[in-house]
Amino acid sequence: MANRLEGKVAVITGGASGIGAATARLFVAEGAKVIVADRQPPLDKELAALIADAPDDVKFVQTDVTQEDQVKAAVDAAVSAWGKVTSAVACAGVPGQGSDIDLSEAEWDRIFAVNAKGVFFLTKHTVPEMIKAGGGSVTNISSAYGIVGAPGYAAYCGSKGAVRTFTKSTAIEHAMQGVRANSIHPGVIETPMVQDIFDRSEDPEATRAAYTAQQPNGFNGAPEDIGWGCVYLASDEARFVSGVELPIDGGLVAR
Ligand SMILES: NC(=O)c1ccc[n+]([C@@H]2O[C@H](COP(=O)([O-])OP(=O)(O)OC[C@H]3O[C@@H](n4cnc5c(N)ncnc54)[C@H](O)[C@@H]3O)[C@@H](O)[C@H]2O)c1
Repeated sequence: MANRLEGKVAVITGGASGIGAATARLFVAEGAKVIVADRQPPLDKELAALIADAPDDVKFVQTDVTQEDQVKAAVDAAVSAWGKVTSAVACAGVPGQGSDIDLSEAEWDRIFAVNAKGVFFLTKHTVPEMIKAGGGSVTNISSAYGIVGAPGYAAYCGSKGAVRTFTKSTAIEHAMQGVRANSIHPGVIETPMVQDIFDRSEDPEATRAAYTAQQPNGFNGAPEDIGWGCVYLASDEARFVSGVELPIDGGLVAR
């Protein structure tokens, strides 16, 4: 399959690493033009090579999603390069541990600034461009922990739950303008974010095993497992799909 995203122009936040980088590579392979918006330059070597080799198809714009003017600048870069924006994928996110009784206010605000406000800024600045373009698709990466709770992840769960219903509000608000909005809820996906959680624990192998044990299917996902979901939701194959919360999680939230 190829060219499922021919004619689409996407802004992907958090595109330097993990799920966002895999999504950016798949979007380019399927014919989309892509702005990779991230606070750090691409860590993903394949994506870095693609940006160097195919600058007419994919560009990096340094962006901190907590800063509205920077998110707007990333969206403007897509319009100035390719004349429109049809697709947004909000992947930028930070983990964060701490229970509801031991989190500091500063840590709560730090997590919400990226995971919730950053998603709002991307929607705010891409949807008007989608309306001008005659329609489009917003895909926000929430988490399985945006559907179910987990001990020790109070602000993470709260921020991902906010993304879940914020996305539905976008779906309803702009349904008559040809804009669809959906959230994806990954299970355990082996990315630098998750590897870092393993590495910072006392026993990384035991921590990895404990995470995998949450997966009813017995193995962790790869970034591309989420990237293909993003391709589908951004494509015209999904023209009747809006307001959906899509777990891609090996059955984690079906328990
Ligand atoms: N990996 C998993 O198991 C998993 C599970 C559920 C949900 N998620 C979500 O998927 C998304 C991607 O996570 P990942 O696992 O690929 O992690 P990752 O750390 O590999 O990638 C996250 C990217 O977001 C970027 N980012 C963080 N803060 C930013 C900011 N303020 N501005 C711009 N960019 C910023 C980082 O630089 C990084 O490139 C996140 O929203 C995460 O919460 C991941």
